[in-house]
Amino acid sequence: MALRHCHNASDFEVAARRRLPKPLFDYVAGGADDETTKRANVAAFDRYQLVPRYLQDIREIDLRRTVLGCELAWPVILAPTGMSRMFHPDGECGVASAAEAAGVGYALSTMASASIEAIAQVSRGPKIYQLYLLADDGLNFAAIDRAKAAGYDAICLTVDTVVAGNRERDLRSGLTIPPRLGIGSLLQFARRPGWCRDHLLGGKFSMPNIAPPGAAATDISTLAAFFAQKMERHISWLRVQQLVRHWGGPFAIKGLQCAADAVLAAGHGVSAVIVSNHGGRQLDGTAATIDLVADIVDAADGRVEVILDGGVRRGTHVLKALAMGARACMIGRPYVYALAAFGQPGVVRLLELMRAETERGLALLGCSSVDQVGRRHLRLAAQVPAFLDERPISEPAIAQHQMHWTDR
Ligand code: GLV
Repeated sequence: MALRHCHNASDFEVAARRRLPKPLFDYVAGGADDETTKRANVAAFDRYQLVPRYLQDIREIDLRRTVLGCELAWPVILAPTGMSRMFHPDGECGVASAAEAAGVGYALSTMASASIEAIAQVSRGPKIYQLYLLADDGLNFAAIDRAKAAGYDAICLTVDTVVAGNRERDLRSGLTIPPRLGIGSLLQFARRPGWCRDHLLGGKFSMPNIAPPGAAATDISTLAAFFAQKMERHISWLRVQQLVRHWGGPFAIKGLQCAADAVLAAGHGVSAVIVSNHGGRQLDGTAATIDLVADIVDAADGRVEVILDGGVRRGTHVLKALAMGARACMIGRPYVYALAAFGQPGVVRLLELMRAETERGLALLGCSSVDQVGRRHLRLAAQVPAFLDERPISEPAIAQHQMHWTDR
């Protein structure tokens, strides 16, 4: 599939499936257990329908928004994802450059295959460093200091990986990190000669942000082994407060799903909550994030910014999240697929398409700026027509659809 034939996020997934060896595609696509939450993240957007309000002046459309202190050209941040060079030699540097060109934020993962400093060299755009709290506290503070020295705008602490999620696709494929060819997987890799050529020519793979200062960058065997050995299992609110103070700038917590935790975050100096279930890769059976975001926005009551992560595949998904009150959205898998299939140009095109979708959707909603989108632009998909509201309704399912959102 040629790049010019990709017209939406799903097309990039198809293209990535064709280029990546199956164990690698499954690593990206997979979720925990039965992948219920992974699927729900995308499907739940269909529960909400957009309500356009026409006859408005939409001659100029303004998508800009300030999030975590960063001026974004449109309210999207590329989510932290590990080891991008496993998918394409352009890796994190290619993604960060594409994000800068699009004017969106880029969050570099602790488990990236490019260093904090390398990303700062290729991008002057908004940059966030994603921190996994490791049991070795020296590494945590060293990483924050490196991000500060390299001019990052914000820190994002991910809190939902205290133990590894149960990724059964990886267990079946026997994926190691970096990938090593075993007898079982040889055939699967041989079917993808383009990826094998790039991987062999791509130089040594490493994770330069998790090595102790001065030590060689680390190899890890499997993700589960990494989590078991290195993750701090007790991230307390006190630790959060210490990290916030040490960083001294905009600070987000990623992985919260509960309104009470958002309130606690606000009380501990956190500036943003990223509502996320890690793309359904950690605790299966949790809610789709779009179903959680409005309640968390209400509980936070303006004291922290709320960012939605999970299931965003369309510009209209971004608009639904903003209508609920989210400040911005994170996009993860779609850009990894675009990178895997085409390298940096793939990510550039994906972002152009999604931005165009967002802009078109905004105009068709009758809004000239993202700040005008509100809950009056949403209805529940199964909401009954008003005349039926007059009747006594007993079924709980229908009663639930009476939910009424006031204009915000
Ligand atoms: C790592 O964070 C992963 O989800 O694979």
